[in-house]
Amino acid sequence: MRVLVTGGAGYIGSHTVQQLRQRGDDVIVLDSLERGYRAALGDTPCVVGDIADEDLVTQICRRQRIEAVLHFAAYKAVGESMAQPARYFLNNVHKTNILLETLRQAGVTRFIFSSSAAVYGTPTELPVRETSPLQPENPYAASKVMVEQMLRWFDACHGMRFVSLRYFNAAGAALDGQMGEDFRAATNLVPLVMKAALGKLPHVEIYGTDYPTPDGTCIRDYIHVLDLADAHLRALDYLAAGGDSETVNLGIGKGYSVQEVIDLALHLSGKAIPSVAVARRTGDPVAIWADNAKARDLLHWQPRYALEDIIRTAWRWHSSHPNGFEGERISAGG
Ligand SMILES: NC(=O)c1ccc[n+]([C@@H]2O[C@H](COP(=O)([O-])OP(=O)(O)OC[C@H]3O[C@@H](n4cnc5c(N)ncnc54)[C@H](O)[C@@H]3O)[C@@H](O)[C@H]2O)c1
Repeated sequence: MRVLVTGGAGYIGSHTVQQLRQRGDDVIVLDSLERGYRAALGDTPCVVGDIADEDLVTQICRRQRIEAVLHFAAYKAVGESMAQPARYFLNNVHKTNILLETLRQAGVTRFIFSSSAAVYGTPTELPVRETSPLQPENPYAASKVMVEQMLRWFDACHGMRFVSLRYFNAAGAALDGQMGEDFRAATNLVPLVMKAALGKLPHVEIYGTDYPTPDGTCIRDYIHVLDLADAHLRALDYLAAGGDSETVNLGIGKGYSVQEVIDLALHLSGKAIPSVAVARRTGDPVAIWADNAKARDLLHWQPRYALEDIIRTAWRWHSSHPNGFEGERISAGG
């Protein structure tokens, strides 16, 4: 399949690109490199540019005869979105609208979207199903809901078929430890824990230790980045086989507390991981994990990796690349 991957130089995109190429798909990445790394792509062709550059996207689609698009490109920091909502609506919503219209005009009708479990806000039922109410509690989450709505209309009006994948907490790294999340700008728990284990952060902050959970810390569903990548390949195949537009949760279907993640990292790395309890954050749900039955039924997907694999691979990557992709060899191409 000939696939355009926006945001392919980012964390989840780069792992997906690797799996696409391993199975023989023809891949081209479009990334501004604002928050991604060329070195994460090896020799995969990468066009450095913006998703809202209509001429550029049109040219790529025509020249490469693109059949489907995987759309990872977006900003993803909840806190930043609260401080700068306009920036998030511009990059995540407005630019995606431009991208969709450009793709439509170029005749591309298959689209895989990186949505988020953040659309559920504080869930009213557990596990969370795709039909659970959407209650975005920050501009980042709202931007994902808006794009999902946009996609429904592009399908209804233009026959643009999509799969919107609502990821839970992506974490982990490649099995060989050669690729992972660059933690220099990371705000998620696992990379922060790794940073603390490597002494690059004085301590991990735990937002709230008095929640009604067994150890008082919040509970989340952590999904290995390789399982996420695999689901994208399956979603592409689903659309290629003529499947209708769908929205699908991607989580392992089990929750772990913040304290459990820290304890496991301590055990597997053998390093001290100092932590400090701080105030709860507004909008942080006590607990959330996925009902992933739809991903299993529709995409014939199942998670292959557990939390232990996530921590083990993340540690392998971070301890061997303490400066992320900095200083990595930049391959030519694209
Ligand atoms: N990481 C998670 O836990 C998580 C969870 C739920 C959803 N998501 C979503 O998955 C997607 C990928 O996440 P990630 O963790 O790989 O993020 P990331 O920041 O590592 O990657 C995003 C990439 O998009 C690029 N980009 C951003 N805006 C662009 C634009 N206008 N034009 C071209 N390139 C642009 C960045 O340079 C970066 O390489 C995002 O849409 C994110 O919202 C991530």
